[in-house]
This record gives sequence, C-alpha cells and structure tokens, in this order.
Amino acid sequence: MTQLAARPVSQAVEFLFKVSKEIPSFAVVLGSGVKVLEDLPEQVNVSYEEVFGISPGVVGHAGSLTLGRVGGKLVAVLRGRFHLYEGYDFETVTLPARVVREWGVPNLYLTNAAGGMNESFHVGDLMLITGYKDHLHPRYQQTGLLPALKSAPVDCRNKLTDHLLAVSKRLNVQDVDFRSLRTGVYAGLLGPSYETLAEIDMLKKLKADAVGMSTVTELEAVRGSSTTAAAISVVTNVWSPDEIIGGHEEVLTAAREASQRLDRLFRAAIADYSPETI
Ligand code: HPA
Repeated sequence: MTQLAARPVSQAVEFLFKVSKEIPSFAVVLGSGVKVLEDLPEQVNVSYEEVFGISPGVVGHAGSLTLGRVGGKLVAVLRGRFHLYEGYDFETVTLPARVVREWGVPNLYLTNAAGGMNESFHVGDLMLITGYKDHLHPRYQQTGLLPALKSAPVDCRNKLTDHLLAVSKRLNVQDVDFRSLRTGVYAGLLGPSYETLAEIDMLKKLKADAVGMSTVTELEAVRGSSTTAAAISVVTNVWSPDEIIGGHEEVLTAAREASQRLDRLFRAAIADYSPETI
C-alpha cells in the first residue's frame, strides 16, 4: 500500500525549509469540497507527493500544499488529507499535522465537511468546533468504543477559537450575507459510510452537534504543542427527523456558498491576527 512510502516528519520539514526559509504564520488544512484561500499573492505550489512522499486518494482532495500571503502573512494551505477509512494508519493520517507542528507553524486551522445533528443547524452553516468526541483512536480497537462513548467531549477552546468567534461577530455586523458562526461538539467516526439512523440517535443523545470522519486525529496530534489549532465544520447535510435532507445538488451549492463565507472569515482572521492581541 502507498502509505509505506510516507516520509518521516523530519524529511518533510527539511524539504519545506528548502521551499521557504520563512515559517508560515498559519497553516490551513482543507476538507472535501472546501474551497478557500485560492489565488494568493506570491503563490508557490508543491505536491503532497513531494512533501509527504504520498498523496491522498479521495476525490475532491487535491493533494497540494500552497504557500501564499494573506494580509502580508505567509500561509500554507494544505489541500487534502489522509483518512483512517482509506486504510491509512494513525501515523499517516496525522502526518500533515505533525509536519505543521515540527515546521514551527504557530497557528493551524482545520476544516471538514460534516453532518449536522443539532436541529437548529441549517445546510451551509459553519460550526466552530469547541469540543470533540474521539471515536477514532486506535486504542478503541483494544477497548471497544464504550470508554469513548462514556467520556465527556474534549474541550478545544483556545485563543485561536476565541479570535475566530470575535472576527465572525464583526463580519456578522458588517456583512449581511454572513451567517453567525455556530459552535458545537464534533464527533469523529471511522466511516466511510454515513451513519445509520440508530447511530445518529445515539450521537444526538451524547450531545454531539456534528459528525464527520476526520479532524479529531489532527487536533490530538498538535494538542499541548506550540501549534494552536482551531477547527471549523462546514455543515453539508442536516440529520433532522422532520426535514428532508437536501439532494446532492443542494448540498454542493450549500458547500460552495459556505466556502465563500469561510474564505471571508479566514482572510479577515489571518489579516487581523497578531500574537499579542489574541
Ligand atoms: N456523516 C459523516 N460524515 C459526513 C457527513 C455525515 O452526515 N456529512 C459530511 N461528512
């Protein structure tokens, strides 16, 4: 399997230092269908294969790392990720996040597409992840999922999530099309199929607001390090008992429109950022 060729973190970082002597202020990992931070000034592109030795196999994941400027700050945009459901191991799935950490990037935004379970959510909402439930970690292969189901969500609020909330409130006032940023708990499940209705029922009882198949592993990979992470879910479908979930076209349109709002949020937040003020 291709994952055998994955580079060690140190080699990937060495390569990135050859591409850029300057360490980016932000790294942004984009989930499926999330299109933001395109056409940045001073753009330089490298492929995932050049950086990590491997590239993602999921359609909609480009597998490229782009360096460019937002408000004068250097930003690395990582288009693509590796999922456990593709058969990659935990090490490979966390490789991009661990490389970002070892590269010395102080701030990491993670994004994903997720199913909304909070019944006040709408398709196209953006949800800042304030807590997560990890149902993915390999330790559950030994223990079963019961400990994960019983445990409280992990709190992942920090200066970066607070800053995104503050910037979103400002955009909400300035920009009529900008919907408020939602907040909530993200449940990470293995997939690859969407949940059964019984699983959705269970996750709702566990007070999860959104469900997806990524991000938790990356949040854990940088936890406690000098890289601070904030994650946002694009709600592409809503699990509601009395509402027909949108058709494929509707979901794609909602994701596209949500990406435009997310793009405005990230550009404003990165431009506004200063280590002293957040
Ligand atoms: N479940 C899991 N992953 C997802 C969903 C969902 O409903 N929507 C987008 N990614």
